[in-house]
Amino acid sequence: MSVQTHIIGVGGYLPERILSNEELSTMVDTSDAWIRERTGITQRHIVSEGQQTSDLGAAAAQQALDDAGISIHDIDALLVATTTPDMIFPSTASIVQYKLGGKGFPAWDIQAVCSGFVYGLAQADGMMRSGMFKRVLLIGAESMSRIVDWTDRNTCVLFGDGSGAVVLEAVATDSKEGGVIGSVLHCDGSYRHLLMAEHRYGGNAPGEKVDFRVDAAGVAAIEMKGNEVFRMAVKKLGEVVGEVLEKHGIKQSDVDWLIPHQANIRILKATAKKMKMPEEYMALTVDQHANTSAASVPLALNHLYRQGKFKTGNILLLEAFAGGFAWGANLVRWSK
Ligand code: COA
Repeated sequence: MSVQTHIIGVGGYLPERILSNEELSTMVDTSDAWIRERTGITQRHIVSEGQQTSDLGAAAAQQALDDAGISIHDIDALLVATTTPDMIFPSTASIVQYKLGGKGFPAWDIQAVCSGFVYGLAQADGMMRSGMFKRVLLIGAESMSRIVDWTDRNTCVLFGDGSGAVVLEAVATDSKEGGVIGSVLHCDGSYRHLLMAEHRYGGNAPGEKVDFRVDAAGVAAIEMKGNEVFRMAVKKLGEVVGEVLEKHGIKQSDVDWLIPHQANIRILKATAKKMKMPEEYMALTVDQHANTSAASVPLALNHLYRQGKFKTGNILLLEAFAGGFAWGANLVRWSK
């Protein structure tokens, strides 16, 4: 029996605390005008003390489960795309599973930074088409504020926290039309140094006594060559969008909604322009929550979904570019 992967539930969550450009301007040498003009961002949401990436993920996932009208006990795999896990191990996915009251089914994390959700959708789709899983909970969740250097104006204005989730279901192709059409993924590690957060482990050597409270905590902060990332993002996103359309025989003009990773409004607009896509058919949320990395694509999807924008049969194009560099795109025919 041939099956296709359908999105049957969508959810999103943003932490309560809002950090506006104005407030940020009191912390580093920047201004609301500069941030808006160069990035399109007006504010970001920040986790509260003690709130973990798994808490954000669980909140979005529960909304997606409710939206699908099913419970965690109907799920048979859980994936969390994150670059800000609660801890080195266990996986954030296993913690989310526990927080949602699930047990027994496999749960694991995906690390492709801002492309994590796009990678995750491709991975889940492949596994579901092979018959391995019937229902998958796919989550993108991030606490980027925890790995930002809040004294570095070049990076701290760009990021925020949040989560988004979808429930995926494998459905026989002869019983329902639509679902994930296909995906294209890429990575080129020769660019890894242009955008990274190096985690410095404790440097523990055999025989040494380690103070885990200090050493194992490690330090990680985002370092980025903004200009070079910008140029490559525009180039590679333009290419991958063309590639996924060509691979699946779909014309640019057939795409109803563009759901890009929300990093910088200028990057988003460049891709829309390349596709000759009117901007009102592009999800735009970067102004409200800045770059939430792996959470950004499902948050953008959730944003349009909650407004009732998608009609059955609409073609959605999801795309993202990330540190690595890792980038990719998915095509989905809306069927909910
Ligand atoms: N406030 C005010 N000035 C700032 C600033 C800030 N927050 N951040 C940088 N500047 C300054 C720079 O120091 C520089 O000053 P100088 O000319 O005196 O040296 C000036 O603004 C211009 O910097 P530049 O880097 O040329 O700006 P830009 O137009 O390229 O915009 C980014 C910077 C970071 C917004 C842009 O490069 C970008 O969005 N890059 C991609 C980032 C991204 O999307 N990363 C994630 C991908 S997943």
